[in-house]
Amino acid sequence: MKTIWMLIAAGMSCSAIGADIKAGETKTQACVGCHGAQGKSLVPTFPKLAGQHAVYIESALREFKSGERKNQLMAPFAAGLSEVDMADIAAYFEAQK
Ligand code: HEC
Repeated sequence: MKTIWMLIAAGMSCSAIGADIKAGETKTQACVGCHGAQGKSLVPTFPKLAGQHAVYIESALREFKSGERKNQLMAPFAAGLSEVDMADIAAYFEAQK
């Protein structure tokens, strides 16, 4: 249990430092098809990402990449993301209204 909180705390500090919203915007071009422009999904089966907390987005992407969270649609898109990509993407979606 302690480890979980340490990981959450670590995730918070990562996303706070140096995430690049502009770079994130470019990196989300592949996501628009499902999650909508600026993460404002109009399709009920695709979660809205606009305005979602960056920490949550980052941890979800890490879990899809590691296979801890399984989804056939998401896995291939998370697989190619680096830690920096995830932080930039998360910062971009958090900044959307
Ligand atoms: C082919 C469609 C598709 C594409 C493209 C796609 N996603 Fe997803 N995404 C999904 C689906 C479906 C889910 C819901 C998965 C589930 O139920 O666990 C999801 C879930 C997520 C979640 C978790 C949301 C939540 O509320 O838990 C995040 C974060 C996410 N996607 C980010 C991205 C990012 C970033 C990209 C682009 C790099 C991307 N997705 C591209 C279909 C897609």
